[in-house]
Amino acid sequence: MENHKRPPATLLVIFGGSGDLNYRKLTPALFNLFIDGWMPEKFEIIGIGRSEFSDDKYHAHLLDGINQFSRRKEQKDDKWQEFTQHMTYMQMDAEKDDEYKKIAELVKTKETEFGIHPIVIFYMAVAPQLVPDIAKKLGGLELCSDSKCTRIVVEKPFGHDLDSAHQLNTLLKSMFKECQIYRIDHYLGKETVQNILALRFGNALFEPIWNRNYIEFVQVTAAETVGVEGRGGYYETAGGLRDMVQNHILQLICMIAMEAPVSFDADEIRNKKVDVLNAIRKYTREEVHEHAVRGQYSEGWMMGEKTPGYRQEKSVSPDSNVDTFAAVKFYIDNWRWQNVPFYVRTGKRLHEKTTIITVQFKPAPSYAFPPEASETWRSNRLTLSIQPEMDIRLRFQAKHPGQSMILNPVDMIFNYKDAYDGNEPEAYETLLLDIMEGNATLFMRDDQVEAAWKIVMPILETWENRAPSDFPNYAPNSWGPEDAEALIARDGYNWLTLPSQH
Ligand code: BG6
Repeated sequence: MENHKRPPATLLVIFGGSGDLNYRKLTPALFNLFIDGWMPEKFEIIGIGRSEFSDDKYHAHLLDGINQFSRRKEQKDDKWQEFTQHMTYMQMDAEKDDEYKKIAELVKTKETEFGIHPIVIFYMAVAPQLVPDIAKKLGGLELCSDSKCTRIVVEKPFGHDLDSAHQLNTLLKSMFKECQIYRIDHYLGKETVQNILALRFGNALFEPIWNRNYIEFVQVTAAETVGVEGRGGYYETAGGLRDMVQNHILQLICMIAMEAPVSFDADEIRNKKVDVLNAIRKYTREEVHEHAVRGQYSEGWMMGEKTPGYRQEKSVSPDSNVDTFAAVKFYIDNWRWQNVPFYVRTGKRLHEKTTIITVQFKPAPSYAFPPEASETWRSNRLTLSIQPEMDIRLRFQAKHPGQSMILNPVDMIFNYKDAYDGNEPEAYETLLLDIMEGNATLFMRDDQVEAAWKIVMPILETWENRAPSDFPNYAPNSWGPEDAEALIARDGYNWLTLPSQH
């Protein structure tokens, strides 16, 4: 085990303790941190929920989640027993003011037991509409004014639009200082996403060519094969643009497009990202029609199985116009990126589960090779596979071995599996550890969230004001609607995927 400094004594209070997020993500992540020796020496995790659970039943329920969803499948019985000593369940009606006294009492008890005042983290793993009320009630507790020790974690979606996000920010900031608020975008915790900073700012090689003089376009694809997976109720209020572009994809663009930070201080990194968001062009209604495409999946077949269309999913209206696919061409109006298109697309029920970023370089200015030598010539391209493949490939031309001078493209590949032991932490492990340590670098600041909403609002409003005439407009197992192909084909390019990119 690595010799590392552990976070200070911590009390983690999870609202939504019996819910899905804790079951699938939080407890598996916390248990992995525990196995790897990253949890504080003194800690307690309190799950809060309405349902009735004895501690034993609660532990058994969470173990089931670990067995299904943790990256570690092997049994860790003794470790699990040890871990459960730190986990309790508290039944509580979060709507009742009085109940919050229990939390203050609990903190006091733990303080005595630990012999030190712990870091207290309130994790909102509840439906977004419950967050404001819980936050308000927590705000009434004296301990929340302790900006050094008390933190609140808010999951996405952060607001439903710019106004509601602003209201939520205002409300949270009336109870907590900005440094106490951790807004999660789980993409930022992914190893391959954090590695974008390492690639760009840990190497002298890329920076000189990382601009409009050398880069032709950038693409981001975040494709999923799953449908809305029983989350129809939520998805009806969201749609693909809100669910994936407003947060995850814009964050990826920030990492690709930001200027070099002068330090790794949380605010310095976040300042540089906000600069990118502010520079992204805000479209007029006409420009939305030109630069954005929406889609919705029909019923059809995926891997030999018949799948329902979006409108047939549970809790979805049979004439829903919600987008399950979105593609947008963005521009970043600054010196580095002027006129370089950033094409992004995301969708459910697409052909493959894959998230990749492609940086396509411009052609060399001239070629001395005879035409037959360079028939298979292709531009240089850097592809960052975020998931499920975790690699970076740089495509360049090589001489095909033989007596003739024939050039063809080859890939230089860095693959996590080969380079490391293939046991990378999950995004939530990284993020939870950062929260316990008080490092906000990978979390969204208030102005970042609002700047991101400002970019998608014109698109959302245009779409809301004009019902699509062709929904559903793509079949499952495809790459989305034809209009998305047209969006990029108009510029002479095509969407790129792994592994057979040409
Ligand atoms: C979530 C979205 O934020 O990200 C989901 O709400 C989506 O709809 C998920 O499926 C994708 O995350 P990942 O890590 O599987 O790419």
